[in-house]
Amino acid sequence: MDNKNFKRILITAALPYANGPIHLGHLAGAYLPADIFVRFKRLKGDDILFICGSDEHGVPITITAEKEGVSPKVIIDRYHEMNRKAFEDFGMSFDNYSRTSLPLHHRTAQEFFLKYYKNGILKQKKEFQYYDEKVKMFLPDRYLVGTCPHCKSEDARGDQCENCGSYLNPTDLINPKSKITGETPVLKETTHFYFPLGDYQTRLEKYIAEKDAQEGWKENVLNYCRSWFQEGLQDRAVTRDLDWGVKVPIEGFEDKVLYVWFEAVLGYISSTKEWAEKNGKPDEWREYWQSPDTKYIAFIGKDNVVFHCIVFPAMLMAWNDLSDEKYILPDNVPANEFLNYEGLKFSKSRGWGIDLKDFLEHFPPDPLRYYLASILPENRDTDFYWRDFQAKNNNELADIFGNFVNRTLTFTAKHFNSQVPEIKKVRNIDEELLKQIPEFKKNIEELYEKIKIKDALTETMNLARLANKYFNDSQPWKTIKEDPDACATTINLSLQLIRTLAVLLSPVIPFTSERIFKIMNIDNPELKKWQGCDETKLVAGHKINQPEIIFSKIDDKLIEPYLKSQEKNKNLELEVNQSIQSTIDIDLFKKIEIRVAKVLECENVPKSKKLLKLKVDLGFEKRQVIAGLAEYYKPEELIGKKVLIVSNLKEAKLMNEISQGMILAVEDENKNLKLVTVEESLPLGSLLR
Ligand code: MF3
Ligand code: ZN
Repeated sequence: MDNKNFKRILITAALPYANGPIHLGHLAGAYLPADIFVRFKRLKGDDILFICGSDEHGVPITITAEKEGVSPKVIIDRYHEMNRKAFEDFGMSFDNYSRTSLPLHHRTAQEFFLKYYKNGILKQKKEFQYYDEKVKMFLPDRYLVGTCPHCKSEDARGDQCENCGSYLNPTDLINPKSKITGETPVLKETTHFYFPLGDYQTRLEKYIAEKDAQEGWKENVLNYCRSWFQEGLQDRAVTRDLDWGVKVPIEGFEDKVLYVWFEAVLGYISSTKEWAEKNGKPDEWREYWQSPDTKYIAFIGKDNVVFHCIVFPAMLMAWNDLSDEKYILPDNVPANEFLNYEGLKFSKSRGWGIDLKDFLEHFPPDPLRYYLASILPENRDTDFYWRDFQAKNNNELADIFGNFVNRTLTFTAKHFNSQVPEIKKVRNIDEELLKQIPEFKKNIEELYEKIKIKDALTETMNLARLANKYFNDSQPWKTIKEDPDACATTINLSLQLIRTLAVLLSPVIPFTSERIFKIMNIDNPELKKWQGCDETKLVAGHKINQPEIIFSKIDDKLIEPYLKSQEKNKNLELEVNQSIQSTIDIDLFKKIEIRVAKVLECENVPKSKKLLKLKVDLGFEKRQVIAGLAEYYKPEELIGKKVLIVSNLKEAKLMNEISQGMILAVEDENKNLKLVTVEESLPLGSLLR
């Protein structure tokens, strides 16, 4: 990444819905990496602004409110405050944490909408939508359930079938029902505004290619974008028939609101405006949004890619075409994959996972920041494991870094009257160390600049390891008697290294670094900066305060309650799996033909995340089978494999593809499907008995 031409940096982190507490998965996806990057940049002295806030509209919030029988306002007030506080306790260093229910945000969103509307950008379409006559309201996609037209699963939602993964329109559902009343909804005419996303496709593709060339976008993000482009961008409805949200500012449309995603992304802008107002310079937000020498990086989780890489940039392009006040577009969108919890997806409804707030009631923030930073799902999904958290805290933070700090400080207190000793003699071992520190700093800096946070942390811990080794190999407990000058050098350099490490680690463990500075009696801000942190700036004679243990170990007792509650949860699931649902007689079983087949060809079904299309050989004939295995196997992994197939299943159509059979697979303890494997020597077509 090249910052030469940029004067300032704008960082946003996805605005979390104020309908539930922030959990550890959210932190690892977007917030922690953003905060670490921002802290690193601030240490370097860059002009950087860090913006976030609560997303307070949208159907998830109205659903929660309905469930609790309260107004949406009650829900957003509760969770906005809870999340703001939890973020603060976790050390998130936002310059502003706003909320989209603010009038300032409503005005901002309406201004964008009106600009498009008045300039004829938006298309108005009449259409029929499901309406619940009992509660007199149009039903958003997620308020509809029915049978999936593709796989016949009975609990498909109006926007998607979870079972086969196909995207649906509400009117695709067979036998739709309202989630609110259970009634069959009626179709009623309504008018909505559409944003013509397709008109911007060529420019969007060019924009992403250019930014990627400058900044090096992440491969996963580019892939998501490519697949959207491949399908072709479509008009997107930007209004909804709801009453919770930003009102459509046009006569005759008062009972409609802006679609939540259309206005939420503009929340970044209104949050920046709020920051500027609070600062008494109401126009300063423009510096960050409308100045070509500002670099903009948007941190998000992978489920938000389309909105940040495609929808939001297109909205800004559309605005820029119509105005002299031109917005900058994201220069990079480093989306992370997901963090799982003990092998399974975080799930509020199943009680699986842990909230940040609960976590911080039992543990300090830095060990969590450290552990999450070390397992960030930068390239693939990763897992939070309590045992691993404990091990990283005890074996790395406490035993490596903490131990080095502690033994150096106690040695200084005991033998050097708590003062930095003078260097009178430099041996090879000292010279070697002095050479390596700037190299480490340079590497770490480069990794942070590339937003490779996990690698930057690994490299920083390698320096802490080296520090420990240096202390050991120098044997100050011996040289204090045999060669006091050598000993003084060891302790001087070790103290210098504590400062170096406190600076280098402060983006990740800011609370601890600050504590170390206190113990080291360092309050000169110059000595806390990135610049020069690899130099020996502590002067001989500098007085150090009483040593303190900076990391305590986490005992088994502290994490056992969590391990136990998970066991219960996991067992519950197993019980469901293991209880036999209903018995059948042997004649029924005999009617099912299960045969050995070989996979000849295999490819992904377009537009489906879950489905694979296979050509299989049964010996006596070849068949096409559509299987929901795409999340567990790559097509090339299946080609050539022998599998078991239900061969007399009625033909079915999935996503417009004929399926002539079903492949046998079982679900493992992590809910992954695994193929039932077959002895290689079995002939094709042989029948299971
Ligand atoms: N509220 C959304 C989520 O939690 C994220 C919105 S990001 C924004 O997934 F930019 F649109 F605000
Ligand atoms: Zn389906």
